[in-house]
Amino acid sequence: MKEADLLVVEGDITEQEVDAIVNPANPTLLGGGGADGAIHRAAGPGLREEYDLSRSDRESSNGAQRRCECRALGGCAPGEAKITGGYHLPARFVIHTVGPIWQGGGEGEDDLLAECYRSSLRLAGERGLASIAFPAISTGAYGFPLERAARIGVGTVLGTLPEVPSVRLVVFVCHGREAAAIYRRVLSGIHRREPPPSGRELVAGEGTPAGTTTADRVGAHLITIESAYGTRIRNFAEVVDRIAVATSDDREILAIATAISTFVAVSPPSPEVEIPGDLLDEVIRRFAGRVREPEG
Ligand code: APR
Repeated sequence: MKEADLLVVEGDITEQEVDAIVNPANPTLLGGGGADGAIHRAAGPGLREEYDLSRSDRESSNGAQRRCECRALGGCAPGEAKITGGYHLPARFVIHTVGPIWQGGGEGEDDLLAECYRSSLRLAGERGLASIAFPAISTGAYGFPLERAARIGVGTVLGTLPEVPSVRLVVFVCHGREAAAIYRRVLSGIHRREPPPSGRELVAGEGTPAGTTTADRVGAHLITIESAYGTRIRNFAEVVDRIAVATSDDREILAIATAISTFVAVSPPSPEVEIPGDLLDEVIRRFAGRVREPEG
């Protein structure tokens, strides 16, 4: 299947003619400054009066559609994503997500930012959307360093695209020339992923084809990371073995791979990178609950 296109544009998120634009919101979802303010202004007052498109219990007990205002969406926790209509925007939908506030990098900001991109893409995939536009989440009022955020955003999108086959176009919308240059540099340093080691194309989202081993699935994630950052994981086989021995659960594998991706994202750019054993133990313990040595 042809891979999705990734584009960098210098422009305004409110003008993007895509299925969904992503709004870098705050936990109240009531609007704010920056891109959030621009999106609410362009969408019009309807956005605050909103049928909650993301909740399954839209029907209240008497069958009437519950009228939910944005405020009744129940807010949004950092890393989560919620979807509403686009109203007067050219985009059909708005996916609201709350990025991390930058605190120096030691409070899990990278993982949380990655989660914003992942949950927004997954929400788009659940609704079968074909195109989505992201601003540079958290890099304004929330102070996240732009290049680091660009690497995490692009890398996470690449790593998540196999899960959301309906998405065929991702646009990174940059507010200004400098941001666009940074995103273009990050994107140009990326070699698109080779097929997974077994040569089978993983069927994203519907489980994996019969015969695709756990090691294949782990390897596919690592290849995505190598492609995203234009690097080579020096201890690739060891990393695959250690993860495949610890878990065969795709969600756990994805969480471990995302943590490894974040490590690579913040490592100094280099043709090769070694995944430290203690980091591997830590993320396996955190996401797979156990650390076991490979047989033999
Ligand atoms: N189109 C595209 N990008 C934009 C636009 C726009 N109209 N306006 C701002 N940006 C860019 C900023 O230059 C920055 O690079 O979006 C990026 C994110 O900046 P913010 O909008 O400040 O978002 P964030 O850093 O995630 O902070 C979120 O700010 O607006 C409030 O309610 C919001 O409290 C929340 C916080």
